[in-house]
Amino acid sequence: MSLSNIQQSASQHLPFGDQRGARFYGTDILSVNQFSKEDLAYIFGVAVEMREMVARVGTFDLLKGKILANLFYEPSTRTSSSFTAAMERLGGSVIPIHEVKYSSVSKGETLPDTIRTLECYADVIVLRHPEKGASAIAAKYSKKPILNAGDGVGEHPTQALLDLLTILEELGNVENLTVTMVGDLKYGRTVHSLSQLLSLYNVKLHYVSPDILRMPPEIIEELNQKGISQTEHSTLEQALPETDVLYVTRVQKERFDNPEDYEKVAGAFIIDPEIMKAAKKKMIVMHPLPRVGEISMDFDDDSRAAYFRQMEYGLFVRMALLALVLGKA
Ligand code: NCD
Repeated sequence: MSLSNIQQSASQHLPFGDQRGARFYGTDILSVNQFSKEDLAYIFGVAVEMREMVARVGTFDLLKGKILANLFYEPSTRTSSSFTAAMERLGGSVIPIHEVKYSSVSKGETLPDTIRTLECYADVIVLRHPEKGASAIAAKYSKKPILNAGDGVGEHPTQALLDLLTILEELGNVENLTVTMVGDLKYGRTVHSLSQLLSLYNVKLHYVSPDILRMPPEIIEELNQKGISQTEHSTLEQALPETDVLYVTRVQKERFDNPEDYEKVAGAFIIDPEIMKAAKKKMIVMHPLPRVGEISMDFDDDSRAAYFRQMEYGLFVRMALLALVLGKA
C-alpha cells in the first residue's frame, strides 16, 4: 500500500472530527497485533495532519487540559522526549517519571499500585518497563489508556508505527519490499514489533544476526503461518544487494546475563560506506537508535541514511496516538 493510498483512505474520515475520535477512544496501545491495515491508514492519516499542523502553527490546543503520565522504568531519550513533545505540541501537559528510583517504586511499590496512583492524576499513561507483558498488566489495572513504550524484550508498538510511516514516506510504498533486519533480533523489541506489523503486507524479510541473537522462533512461526518469506543469515553479503530497507539494531547489552557473551557478539555487524557499495542506490538504512557503533558516522551524510529523519516521524505518530486515544483527533 502506498502512502497516497493510505492518505486517501484516511481522508475519507473527517479531519480532527468526532468520527476519528471514536475509533481509538480509550484504547490501550499494547501490541502491533491489534492493528489492521485500515487502522494504520487511519493513524497515519492523522499523523500526516499533525505534521502539517506542526509546520503551520507549531503548538495547538487539541489536548488542552489533558495530562500524560510518562512512566519510564528503563532509560529513554527519543521515546520519552517525543511523547513529551507530542503532548506539549497538542497543548497538554506531562507528569514525567523517568527516574523511578526517586518515586515510590524504590520503596517497593508494585506496578499495579503505581498505575492506580497515576490514573488518578493523568488522562493517559505511557509506560516503559523491563518486563515483557508489563503494559498488559498495567492496562488490566488502569481505566485510562496505557501506551506501551517498550516492555522488556516484548514489543515496542509505537516505534513500529513510526518505522512503518518512515518506510512509506521515504520509499512511497511497502508492498513487495525486501526488508533486512540486522543485529540483535532476539532481545530487540523494535524488530519483534516491526516484523509482525510488516506481516500485514506482502514483504520479504531477511534476518541477519549472530547465532545467539536470532529472531525468536515463535515470531518466525507466526509469520510463516501468514505466508511471509523469511530467511535467516549469519552474514550481510547475501541479503544486502536486494534490500530496500536495512533495519539496523543495537545489541541489547542490558539483556545479557553473561557480559562475556555480549563481548563475543558486540560489533558483529558494522554498516559503513564500503559495505554499502553493495546496496541499491534507492534504499534506506534505518535504526531505532541509540546506536553504539553499528552504523559508522561516516555513513551519516549518505542520502540513504534515514535514521535521523526516522526520529521526526515519531513525533507525528505519537501526537496522532495521543489525540486518538483521548478521543480528540
Ligand atoms: C529502542 C528501545 O528502547 O527498544 N530505542 C528506542 O525506543 N528508540 C532501541 C534500543 O534501545 O536499542
